Amino acid sequence: MKSHIESLLEQTLESFKQQGIVPADFQARIQVDRTKDKSHGDLATNLAMMLTKVAQKNPRELAQLIIDNLPTSSHVAKVEIAGPGFINFFIDDNALANQLQHALNDEHLGVALPAKQTIVVDYSSPNLAKEMHVGHLRSTIIGDSVVRALEFLGHNVIRQNHVGDWGTQFGMLLAYMEELRAANGEQAQMELSDLETFYRAAKVRFDESSEFATRARQLVVALQSGDEYCNKLWREFNDISLSHCHEVYQRLGVSLTRADVHGESAYNADLAQVVNDLDAQGLLSESNGAKVVFQEEFRTKEGEPLPVIIQKADGGYLYATSDLAAMRYRSNVLKADRAMYFVDLRQALHFQQVFSLAKLAKFVREDMSLEHTGFGTMNGEDGRPFKTRSGGVVKLVDLLDEANVRALELVRSKNPDMDEATITEIARVVGISAVKYADLSKNRTSDYIFSFEQMLSFEGNTAPYLLYAYTRVAGIFKRVEDIDLSQAKITLEHEKEKDLGTKLAQFGEVLTRMTDKGLPHVLCGYLYELASEFSSFYEACPVLAADTEEQKQSRLLLSQLTAKTLKTGLSLLGIDTLERM
Ligand code: ARG
Repeated sequence: MKSHIESLLEQTLESFKQQGIVPADFQARIQVDRTKDKSHGDLATNLAMMLTKVAQKNPRELAQLIIDNLPTSSHVAKVEIAGPGFINFFIDDNALANQLQHALNDEHLGVALPAKQTIVVDYSSPNLAKEMHVGHLRSTIIGDSVVRALEFLGHNVIRQNHVGDWGTQFGMLLAYMEELRAANGEQAQMELSDLETFYRAAKVRFDESSEFATRARQLVVALQSGDEYCNKLWREFNDISLSHCHEVYQRLGVSLTRADVHGESAYNADLAQVVNDLDAQGLLSESNGAKVVFQEEFRTKEGEPLPVIIQKADGGYLYATSDLAAMRYRSNVLKADRAMYFVDLRQALHFQQVFSLAKLAKFVREDMSLEHTGFGTMNGEDGRPFKTRSGGVVKLVDLLDEANVRALELVRSKNPDMDEATITEIARVVGISAVKYADLSKNRTSDYIFSFEQMLSFEGNTAPYLLYAYTRVAGIFKRVEDIDLSQAKITLEHEKEKDLGTKLAQFGEVLTRMTDKGLPHVLCGYLYELASEFSSFYEACPVLAADTEEQKQSRLLLSQLTAKTLKTGLSLLGIDTLERM
């Protein structure tokens, strides 16, 4: 409906240009917003105010002129001028009912699909030396939800798990693996089942033995120059490390597969070329033996130039070098129109620098959009970065285990008579959803406090609240199994039916806002409001005990569309629904 009003206003603006009311080359970004207050209609625009300068008329006069020139539309019941010159649109109830009826029978729930784009989404991307820990949670689940929403909107989405699998730390790990193999053969495999311990033990050896350290350095050099033995060892290590990641993904219900892994090592062969190309364009400078690029706009607080380091004095490449190669690949090979990077906000400067350099060096097409969709830190209840009691990093599997234990207690206490297998399954879904939803529902750009208590509460904008709301809506249909709704029609009479209908009709707008900026909390907030809107409707409007058969059927359809919208919305957040809980 919003896009319909936008298009009416665009046509009006066109006719203004033809009539010479505004210059023919005038460009306006027409803005239509949902009103906060129902007495102001459903949608409003500030277009009149935007035109005052170019049209040299006062805004109320212009607002009237816009209304006079607005093409007639059966979707609009009434248009009004408000305040200094806002235009309020009241949507026709029948048109709204028809829109909802159409949504019910459409696989995309009536959401208008945008022009198709190829979109690379870089997310999760852990460093493989360590096991996945809480620091990887945000990128993984926020990225996965945006990926799902983009795919729902029909885009060609290419997931890229840009794992850190090529740094100098690999020498240390390989040396340690070699040592373990020599000592206990197959036992080494077992040791790797706990990567965190493995990493720490390797580090201890590295620090205590200079022979070990030398061996580690030899192994990196050998690895990066293609030595077969080292590469074999490295592949084995990565394989085990990646299987750990994929166990976590599976448990989290994250859609990444092994085919989406395209880590730093994948660009190894391109790195020398990146250096040559920058050199050929005269962009490289020397700084203490290293090859760097200075860009005017990047300076320290003190005004000192801040370079991107491309190659170290010893010949080694850096994080930025593989990112430059990756951007070129994403532009030229993957043909991306847009690339989104779900990476900690602490890397903001890195991305500003490499994005601007990639454009400068023409590694990506001029019109390719590069977006660092960053996120804040997940903190403990003390407001400090989330740690174990002893101050160590919290492994993701441990966090999920605890969520599961707590969810089990919760579900059991609510359903004392339920059989154990059902409790276990419900708790699995509740535990994982609670962790995911708590993260997704916060604006990604801020830090947030991780609290099991809050995320497992049935009150407020939480997973249990929404999952429960869904079971209530879906529950209605358990009681009307044999009803035939194929001829049923939605009519909106009661105030609460209209409110629910208006909310339902906003699903598409919400998905657009969510995917434009990569903000899943927009969808969470909407689903929460929808669930609350449904509650008020259900309280005020008896469904199965409606006055007439038509009314009952119409209300059943509204309930059905609510159930579908909640289920689809949650699935786009990567959250499974339950039929009971
Ligand atoms: N592996 C990096 C880290 O753990 C994140 C990589 C993000 N993606 C990228 N293209 N730089 O910090």
